[in-house]
Amino acid sequence: MKVKKKDIQTPDDLERFTRELQEQIMAQIRKRYSEAVIDHWQNPRNFRKMDKPDGYAQVKGSCGDTMEMFVRMKDDKISDCTFQTDGCGTTIVCGSVVTELTRDKTFIQALGIVSADEILRQLGGLPESDVHCAQLAAEALRRALADSLHHKRSPWKKHYRRT
Ligand code: FES
Repeated sequence: MKVKKKDIQTPDDLERFTRELQEQIMAQIRKRYSEAVIDHWQNPRNFRKMDKPDGYAQVKGSCGDTMEMFVRMKDDKISDCTFQTDGCGTTIVCGSVVTELTRDKTFIQALGIVSADEILRQLGGLPESDVHCAQLAAEALRRALADSLHHKRSPWKKHYRRT
């Protein structure tokens, strides 16, 4: 770092110090994560709650974080898939990938495509310590799809669900 903390005397110094600090942090992040991860992290897709979804699941991962997954079906295809999580940045990245992978897929296609391995493949891999985040996202989708099937068979039950 060129600007030292003790050298900060003016707003320009502070701005330069902040910029250099951000660049250093991003350089560290790029050593661990691919550009695809950084893209989903900075611009998460479909990170929102869905009103009255056809399929819903809330899953707690091995780390204690939770992910909620929402799916809307239209003509037997997933017309919308969204998620929310209280988990780490990598969990947001993995949820974001799932929502893109499922768009316009049939129930069966989505089940076949979305897995922790596929999420990792889309992201160019993740550090070992983050693999469980991909597992959490894949499991949340699997359960949301199962829920959609359940409610397709018994539509009246949807009205008694919490979300
Ligand atoms: Fe908990 Fe990522 S650290 S899901």
